[in-house]
Amino acid sequence: MERELALEIVRVTELAALSAAHWMGRGDKNRADEAATSAMRTMFDSVSVQGTVVIGEGEMDEAPMLYIGEKVGNGQGPEVDVAVDPLEGTELVAKGLNNALAVVAVANKGQLLHAPDMYMEKLAVGPSLAGKLSLDDSLDVTLEKAAAALNKPLANLTVMILDRERHRKQIELLRHVGVRIKLLSDGDVAGAIAPAMPESGIDLYVGSGGAPEGVLAAAALSCLGGELQGRLLPANQEEYERCRKMGLSDPTKLLSMQDMIGSEDVIFAATGITPGEFLGGVRYFADQRAETHSIVMRAKTRTVRYIRSLHYLPNKPLTMIGSAAE
Ligand code: FBP
Repeated sequence: MERELALEIVRVTELAALSAAHWMGRGDKNRADEAATSAMRTMFDSVSVQGTVVIGEGEMDEAPMLYIGEKVGNGQGPEVDVAVDPLEGTELVAKGLNNALAVVAVANKGQLLHAPDMYMEKLAVGPSLAGKLSLDDSLDVTLEKAAAALNKPLANLTVMILDRERHRKQIELLRHVGVRIKLLSDGDVAGAIAPAMPESGIDLYVGSGGAPEGVLAAAALSCLGGELQGRLLPANQEEYERCRKMGLSDPTKLLSMQDMIGSEDVIFAATGITPGEFLGGVRYFADQRAETHSIVMRAKTRTVRYIRSLHYLPNKPLTMIGSAAE
């Protein structure tokens, strides 16, 4: 993939974020998601790839746009797998809370795991813990290993986890051993990336969240030198069979970075919709201007670019860009 593609991809996440941000706090997560999806789909038409959506808004019969298998791009350029989450954290936007992102990852064809829409158990770390922990260990052993590797007492270790009833036992254990905990209300792409961002102060991300979000976060971590280990959690026989149909002969095996992201040729881009751990949110200014904050990275070179853009869109009311109402 040409390196210029990274800048084309960030325009896609920017437009999705600009569109979704209009719906901030309006209590309508579906409209926010539609706006982001429609904008992302539109902008992809100008990107020079022959892309196939492998992680998207759902199966063809349930999602009108950016469905799994949909072809995106202008039909020129490399054949690529595309993973999208036009609005990661629908509830966050609906409530005006932090950490909502528009996210895209692109890799050469066949290199991204086609993660089914189910839960995945995750363990994510930054470069200093990459290769040193295992999802096969119990949580208390993982915490001890992490504290030893970072040369800090358990009391100074900071762990992030989604605030969910299904994590009650893990949260009790985290409190029992005395680590610091950051409970996340939603948005575990940002959560799983956080340990690789030194300024976040997060050492580990644990717990279960969406499997598609797991692959997106793994793409980001591959650019940052971090690591995500995952294990799919099929909830019933039907979900188990779905994994097998997607080519996973052992659906509950530990998934390494290599299993999820098969190549170093990966581009990851995200734009903040609401302010978050590592990106600012969309701000609308006077005179049809809006500001976005994005990150775009390539695994091959590990270049990490932060892009602050001022958009000038004189011919369209900003409230309508890419929205369903357009
Ligand atoms: P949506 O953007 O689809 O609403 O997902 C938000 C999210 O918090 C993800 O980041 C996370 O992987 C998943 O939901 C967790 O699922 P659940 O809310 O069922 O615990």
